[in-house]
Amino acid sequence: MKKTILTGIRPTGRLHLGHYYGATKNWVALQDDYNSFFEIADVQALTDNFDNPDKVRTNVREIAIDLLAIGIDPEKSTIFIQSMIPEIAELTIFYSNLVTMARLYRNPTIKTEIAQKKALFGNEGESVTYGFVGYPISQAADITAFNGELVPVGEDQLPLLEQCREIVRKFNSIYGETFKEPEAYLSKTKRVKGLDGNEKMGKSLGNAIYLRDSEEEISKKVMSAVTDPNKIKKDDPANPDVCMVYYYHNLVENENVNTICEECKKGARGCVQCKKELIEKINNLLAPIKEKAKKYEENPELVDEILLEGTNHAREVAKETMKNVKKAIKIDYYK
Ligand code: TRP
Repeated sequence: MKKTILTGIRPTGRLHLGHYYGATKNWVALQDDYNSFFEIADVQALTDNFDNPDKVRTNVREIAIDLLAIGIDPEKSTIFIQSMIPEIAELTIFYSNLVTMARLYRNPTIKTEIAQKKALFGNEGESVTYGFVGYPISQAADITAFNGELVPVGEDQLPLLEQCREIVRKFNSIYGETFKEPEAYLSKTKRVKGLDGNEKMGKSLGNAIYLRDSEEEISKKVMSAVTDPNKIKKDDPANPDVCMVYYYHNLVENENVNTICEECKKGARGCVQCKKELIEKINNLLAPIKEKAKKYEENPELVDEILLEGTNHAREVAKETMKNVKKAIKIDYYK
């Protein structure tokens, strides 16, 4: 029997190369060997975007198109919409009793995110909602509702997985053995840097290349990428380690990176030429993805069908889980 993987993504924007190399490319590889569930986490997205429902709604579809375009295959995997599985919300309520406020505030992911909110909004009390602080509980429900055994996530999500494991242990010890403790499945590339040299590629940082960017957009973005500031003239020797163009050459297709590295160090490679080569590499990578996405952009009913089917399947699984949960908690009245 194949093991089950469950992972999720918040629908707050289209996928970019950071998502692709940091996570979703790996998902495509995993779907052959695992019983795979990919959740479009719209409920979780609303914890931060409750005042912008249009953004979340639009991006549910955009994310679905991106996932299908990179090769998530609905014949092999289940793509589903979180809000359409009320059992997840139900499970969240029961888990809420098993987690103390102190434990939530101690969660490093929540701590970091609260600090970010403070920096943005100044007043913690005004920006940190009950729903936000509790989202690790809801994420534990996401995972366990489908008996997720492996959870492909980035390093920043590890504390959330630990929280989930704690909830599972506590649930099992109070109500009887019901769930397995899920494990993290870390991908090799952890975090993708931005074109501007920022440690992270992100929408809010304005340094991202989206999978469906046009060739013009890609060209413009790569041309403005950060290179070695000490290299002034075309034939100055430079340090590829501080150059984002070199970093991306390595990331996207590393066959000729040794040559690029040597030429750069010797001053035998101009930045403009180097950027043009990178643009071509990125275009070659993204052309088939964009081609596939076009089919879904032009036939939105195909996307609807896949999402509905995936969600129906996911719901059946979650309903089964809920039956066991209610029995364990002794609230299975009038069977
Ligand atoms: N919190 C995850 C992120 O922001 C998304 C997510 C939602 C998730 N539900 C999940 C990840 C369940 C793993 C398992 O990236």
